[in-house]
Amino acid sequence: MSSSQSKPITRREALRRTVLFSSAAFIGSSKVLQAAPAQTRFEHQGLDLIAFGDYGYPNSTNQVAVAKAMAQFTKSLGRPLSAVLAMGDNFYRKLTPERIEKQFERMYSTEHLNCPFYVCAGNHDYGTTEYDKQEGKLQMELDYAKNNPTSRWKFPSKWYSIELPSPEAPLVKIIVLDGDYWVGGLTPKEKIAQRRYLQAELAKKSSAPWLWFVNHFPLYTDCTEREDNKSLIREWGKLLDEHQVSLCLAGHDHTMQHLQVEGHSTSFLVAGAGGAPLYPVKHTARGFSDDQQFGFCHLHVSPEKLSVQFVNTKGESLHRFERTRNGETKVRA
Ligand SMILES: [Fe+2]
Repeated sequence: MSSSQSKPITRREALRRTVLFSSAAFIGSSKVLQAAPAQTRFEHQGLDLIAFGDYGYPNSTNQVAVAKAMAQFTKSLGRPLSAVLAMGDNFYRKLTPERIEKQFERMYSTEHLNCPFYVCAGNHDYGTTEYDKQEGKLQMELDYAKNNPTSRWKFPSKWYSIELPSPEAPLVKIIVLDGDYWVGGLTPKEKIAQRRYLQAELAKKSSAPWLWFVNHFPLYTDCTEREDNKSLIREWGKLLDEHQVSLCLAGHDHTMQHLQVEGHSTSFLVAGAGGAPLYPVKHTARGFSDDQQFGFCHLHVSPEKLSVQFVNTKGESLHRFERTRNGETKVRA
C-alpha cells in the first residue's frame, strides 16, 4: 500500500462496508427518480474536476450539448476546474487536424474550461477497428500534445500519472492507464511495460490522500451490451484494494454508472455519455446506472471527502454520492 493513503482497513472491513452499501444505500437509487440542480457549493474547499468520455463523434449535437453543459456548470461553480479527465474514444472515424481544432479546441469553452484535459486512449483512438482504420491515428493524438504544449490537450504517453494540484502538495494522485487489452490495442510488450510502470508508480511515496485509476474501459458495468472486463479485473482488480484506490473511472460504455461491487471497496464510475449514441443499461443492486441522458461526472475533492455527481445537459444532478477517507460511501438525494 502506498504510504500516502488513508489509514488501512482490512479486506474483511472493506467487504463489510461494500455489502452494507450495496444492500442498503442503493435501494431505490438505481433509477433516476427526480433530477435536482447540480451541486455547486461544498462544505470543504477543494479541487473540482470533470470526467467524461466517448465524445468525439462526427457531427454530434449531443457532444455540443455536453460541451455547453460542462462550461455552464463550471461557470456556476464560480471557480476554475483543476482538470478534465478525457477518458477515451476522443475521435471516432478518421482523424484530421481540422477535427482536433473543431471537436476539441473550439468545442470546449476556452473561457470556462481553461484547464488541462488529461487524455487516455480508447479503442476508437487506435485506428485499428474496421470503423476507424487509420494508420498512426493514436500517434496523431500523442503528437498533437507534444507539438502543441500550450494546448489544453495533455497526452504525454499511453500511461502516466498526475498529482493535483501539484506534486509538492498533492490532494489526489491519478494514474492514467491504457486498458486496450483487445487484439489491435496494446501489444504484449506494451502490456508488460505498463504493468511494470504501474507497479513502480504504486510503490512510490506520495502524500496525496486520494488515489484514482483512470482508463477507457470499465472493469465492471451494468450496460446490457457489455460484460465485466475479465482481463482488466485480473490485471488491476487486486491492486485496487491493496493500494486503497478510491475511484476507478472509465468511459467506453455510453452510459453513466456508479457501481459498488462486492469484493471491492473502490467506487467504480462510468462516464461515457459525452456525445456518442447511448447504450442500454440494466438496473441492479450494484448501483446507479443511466442510459437516457448525456452528460458528465463532476468530482469535488477535499482532504477528507470526495463528492461525486453525474450531471446532465440541463445542469441537473442525476446521482450524487460522498465518500470518506475510510471508504464509507453515502448516496445523497
Ligand atoms: Fe470505447
